[in-house]
Amino acid sequence: MSKVTVVGAGNVGATVANVLAHKDIVNEIVLLDIKDNFAKGKALDSWQQAPIDYYSSKIIGTGDYKDTKGSDIVVITAGIPRKPGMSRDDLISTNAKIVVSVTKSILKYSKKPIFIIVSNPLDVMSYAALMASKLSPERVIGMAGILDTARYRAFLATELEVSPKDIQAVLMGGHGDTMVPLPRFTTVAGIPVTDMINKRKLNSIVERTKKGGGELVKLMGTSAWYAPGAAAAQMVESIVKDDGRIFPCSVWLQGEYGVKDMFLGVPVQLGKEGIKRILTLKLNRDEKKLLKDSAKAVNEVIESFKKMKLI
Ligand code: NAI
Ligand code: 2OP
Repeated sequence: MSKVTVVGAGNVGATVANVLAHKDIVNEIVLLDIKDNFAKGKALDSWQQAPIDYYSSKIIGTGDYKDTKGSDIVVITAGIPRKPGMSRDDLISTNAKIVVSVTKSILKYSKKPIFIIVSNPLDVMSYAALMASKLSPERVIGMAGILDTARYRAFLATELEVSPKDIQAVLMGGHGDTMVPLPRFTTVAGIPVTDMINKRKLNSIVERTKKGGGELVKLMGTSAWYAPGAAAAQMVESIVKDDGRIFPCSVWLQGEYGVKDMFLGVPVQLGKEGIKRILTLKLNRDEKKLLKDSAKAVNEVIESFKKMKLI
């Protein structure tokens, strides 16, 4: 059984801890925040839910990194979320410093954890965590694709009046408006989605997916947390269970899809060491072009990060 630390006890972090506790698959969950009483309160509230919902994973809240000692998996959600009118990239100057310092503090007490990064701008914060940690790249994974694909699948389920359970899909690229949903690799209970929906409607769902995060920011004044928290908890589950599941995640690429030395969303198989393997799909010319454009957009933000000289 494992110990999991979630850094940032805000909307997403508290949800990761709570959803993970409900899965009852780890021994201990540590919720850490600079607002230590806030973390303690969220953890206590989740722990008091255990007798009602029947789970045994112990949850503690803290502001002290000593309590994270010996973590197997660390989920970083610390940082500011965007407000209406902001892009995820606008968060870099604040969040890069937070992610670098959190990563280093964690490594004082846990030698070789697997990091799951959630803070935005996601692909660049994953890059920052890898550079700050100097861990093997299989151990630093960005959460975005599961969430973006879930939004795409949910929109399709509504449109087709089917269960979201029956929609399988993959999506690639950066966690931003250039992300690349892939209708050619989307099925409804095994049936190609392109056989079930007209092109115009499908295109509008693809476009809505790309701006799915922004849609929620407009509605709530801050970004989403239920689906993001559940997505990160699903990654933890797959790593803990080592069950060989395949998800789109942001990972360090070394030439796959023609992309090198950066993080970008691609389908991967997760396992107990982090990323077990990267799957390479045969993309057509249009899909390759969209992925290349997305990589370019992420790279521009990586350049801004490098200029900050935090590492
Ligand atoms: P929030 O504001 O509710 O929570 C953030 C928490 O981080 C706060 O409690 C704050 O005190 C804490 N924090 C700040 N600096 C810290 C530090 N140095 N050490 C420890 N804790 C620190 O924000 P929310 O909604 O939970 O979002 C968190 C991040 O996740 C944002 O950057 C947001 O953009 C990102 N996000 C990413 C998603 C993805 O798909 N990758 C989806 C949703 C959110
Ligand atoms: C989202 O997509 C803000 O990245 C976050 O909801």
